[in-house]
Formats: sequence, C-alpha cells, structure tokens
Amino acid sequence: MTQIISGRDISTEIRAELREKVSVLKSDYGVTPGLATVLVGSDPASQMYVGMKNKAAQAMGIHSEQLTLETETSEEELLGAVEELNGNPEIHGILVQLPLPDHIDEARVIEAIDPSKDVDGFHPISVGRLATGSGDYFAPCTPAGVVEMLVRSGHDPAGKHVVVVGRSNIVGKPAAALLMRKAVGGNATVTIAHSRTKDLAAVTRTADILVVAMGRPEMITGDMVAEGSVVIDVGTNRVDDETREKGYRVCGDVLFDEVKVKAAAISPVPGGVGPMTITMLLANTVKSAGISVGSVV
Ligand code: GUN
Repeated sequence: MTQIISGRDISTEIRAELREKVSVLKSDYGVTPGLATVLVGSDPASQMYVGMKNKAAQAMGIHSEQLTLETETSEEELLGAVEELNGNPEIHGILVQLPLPDHIDEARVIEAIDPSKDVDGFHPISVGRLATGSGDYFAPCTPAGVVEMLVRSGHDPAGKHVVVVGRSNIVGKPAAALLMRKAVGGNATVTIAHSRTKDLAAVTRTADILVVAMGRPEMITGDMVAEGSVVIDVGTNRVDDETREKGYRVCGDVLFDEVKVKAAAISPVPGGVGPMTITMLLANTVKSAGISVGSVV
C-alpha cells in the first residue's frame, strides 16, 4: 500500500505544538507573537492566500494585522509601510504578498524588510544565512514544509538522493539548500533539475526522494519515477474540467494516479504541501517572537 503523506494531518500536528508555544510565550514571557501581512492590489488568489494566513494566525492566538494597499500604491509608499512595520514592537513577522504590481521593484521591497522579521525567508540575508548555515534565519515556508513532511512521515532525507525539479527562489533553490544542510532534515545528496534539463526522466528516475516544483500540471508521469521512491508534489495548478461544477479541478505537477502505483509514499494535491506553507509561516512567526525575548520555546 502506498503511503499518502498528508500535509493536512502533519499541519494539524504542528499547529497544536505551536499553540502550546504561543501560550508559553504569553504566560512566561509576556509576549504575543505578531504577524503583519501586506497586500498590494486586488488579485483574487493573493487576497485569498493572505486571508487564509491571517485567519490561521488568529486561530492560534497570534496577533495578526493585514495592510491592504491599492494597486496604484507607489514603491515609496510601500517602502514607508514596511519601514513602519519594521519599527513596530508588536510585529515579529512581516509578509509582503507576491507578486507585486509591475511598477514596484520586488527585490527592493524584500530587502527593506528587517531580516529579523523576514518570516518569508526571502531577504538576501536570510538566503545567505541558509546557504552558509550561520546565524539566525527563517527558512522559506514552502520548502521548510516539504522537509517537515518528509521527516514526520518517516522519510528522513539524510544520505538519500533527493532530486528537486524546479529552480525558483521560493521553492527549488531553498529546498535544495535545506536538504543539503548539516542539520535534521538535511544531509541529503541533492540534484536540481529544471525545464532545461536534458532527459529529465533519466534524472528523476535516480531519485530516492523526488520533490517536484515545476508549476506544470501533471508533468511527472509514472515512467519518470523509481519503484519505491518518495514523491512530494509542490505544484498547485488549476486545469479545465467540464465534469466539475466549478469548471476546473486542482491538480499537482505529478500525475497522481500513475505515480502512486510506483511510489512507496506520495503527497496529494490538494491536502499535501499547500497547508504546510501557512503552518511554517506561523512557525517562523512564533520563532521570531521567541528570539525577540530570548526564549527557545
Ligand atoms: N506568493 C506565493 N507564494 C508566496 C509566499 O510564500 N510568500 C509571499 N510573500 N508571497 C507569495
């Protein structure tokens, strides 16, 4: 029987642990973790994601604030808002939802966030610290969620060959960095493959653990995975489906039914990596509040 790695169940487990930590931070240290989300514009998907992040934070006693700015907001105005949040002692984590409107330089905004509040882990200081393994840093939420899923489902990547398909700054690159770290959840031998990899199937078939973050619906087929491998599907894609009431269905980058037959373990979409991203954002916010009061909860 193929093991189904449920991000939903693992999220529930981690959120229960975080609730405990929030409670200790409040009672023993007098600090309530605080998260600020910043949404520029009215993209429905971004609105939905930011709403889910705030709701999840509040559900575990994290103070959360959402700043919603018009699409026409200037870069200077947004930088001013970030600066204000940097100086707000009630806020331990700042998340500026991406993508930003075209007239705003995303890199400049990310670099304006105080690295000690960079719970998304996108600031170059966070990226550098993850790469070098030095100092305090926050790991980007989606790849951190992938690592938690592997460890908690009994598939410690140590010593294994992990193939990461995808080289984005948000998932592929940090996933590789986390998996090769000298730390729990790391110590893997990592290969990064991507859309320009020659004979992708030949590479993916060498994986003990395959992490797929290509953003292409159902690209990984049964013939592309090794018998007995572990497959984590980071993709979330909407594809037209007239048989559904909504006219679409959500699927991953992996052709689930085919790959499930070969794999020893696989994460589904939905209910896989998706819920973990928000959970790791909450974990980073709680960690940041802990660091601010010198606690190691
Ligand atoms: N847009 C899509 N994913 C993310 C994320 O993890 N963080 C932020 N800030 N924006 C996103």
